[in-house]
Amino acid sequence: MLRVMRILTGLQPSGKLHVGNFFGAMEPAVRLQDRGEAFYFIADYHAMTSSHNPAALRENVRELAVDFLACGLDPARAVFFRQSAVPEVNELAWLLSTVCPMSLLAKCHSYKDKTAQGIAANHGLFAYPVLMAADILLYDSNQVPVGKDQKQHLEVTRDLAVKFNETYGDGTVILPDPIIREDTAVVVGLDGRKMSKSYHNTLPIFGDEKPLKKLVMKITTDSTPVEDPKPTEGSTILSLYKLFASPADYATMVADYERGGVGYGDFKKRLADAYWDYFAPMRARRTEILADPGWVDEVLAAGALRAREEAAKVLERVRRAVGLI
Ligand code: ADP
Ligand code: TRP
Repeated sequence: MLRVMRILTGLQPSGKLHVGNFFGAMEPAVRLQDRGEAFYFIADYHAMTSSHNPAALRENVRELAVDFLACGLDPARAVFFRQSAVPEVNELAWLLSTVCPMSLLAKCHSYKDKTAQGIAANHGLFAYPVLMAADILLYDSNQVPVGKDQKQHLEVTRDLAVKFNETYGDGTVILPDPIIREDTAVVVGLDGRKMSKSYHNTLPIFGDEKPLKKLVMKITTDSTPVEDPKPTEGSTILSLYKLFASPADYATMVADYERGGVGYGDFKKRLADAYWDYFAPMRARRTEILADPGWVDEVLAAGALRAREEAAKVLERVRRAVGLI
């Protein structure tokens, strides 16, 4: 039997969205919402594994909801909700944890990386992949788009699903297929490294024109004199410009690099304008959304209702299989 595509992904509410998040996560999710039943959620429980600030959590969740909607998530097509609005996920996480070997979690890079960065090794951080598996299995999701950094968590999800089905019978949970965005180029940050909050080298998607354009002027460049040709290979300006400019404008900049006679200040101005213009429709949409805050609450409430309906079906099947009913 051909099953419909049930696409699910979660995004952590962890601060201002940047251009890397946009091209690496949001834009692909928005494109996928036409291809099947999309379930997109704000992973607020997961955010609590590394931060314990109630006011910041509330604000970040709100901001992510508004931003995701402004970037094109269409609540008429995708089910959009907060992870914590479906507390059933905790029950499934518990059931999965009872078949999860400690060794499976102990080898996860993300846990090892975070504790190496000095984040306290709490149980939530250790059990993070189990909750993530529950997020996925609770909705019978079969397609899970994630960035490369989440590949191992998807492997844990599949391992747990196999183990659960071996223990309680085939079909108790559905094995999901990851869609790993190997081909999504890593968006570079202002200093030429991967754009990331942790490197403080990001270009936010939303904000005021002056400070955002000023950030572009901070991009690290070499000291090639204005009149000389500039190296195109490894140029941060060019690689960002490519994301925002038309192919013709991009080609013009490459030609100007190769010919010489144009300084980096000029290139940065062109980049700043292209970046600002690119997000104009999303900014306009965001202003509309902010003018009607009740709408965001309605969207999330309707999404939660729909998600809980689905979760209840799966959980009933699972509870029966394990002998709780
Ligand atoms: P950060 O590195 O800023 O903390 P996150 O780890 O919260 O970003 O990333 C959230 C999503 O955005 C993930 O799906 C990740 O793959 C994607 N992402 C983050 N930074 C980039 C980047 N520089 N290029 C492409 N995708 C990115
Ligand atoms: N761990 C993911 C991240 O940091 C977020 C996430 C939580 C998620 N649960 C998920 C992604 C389920 C996909 C499916 O990016």
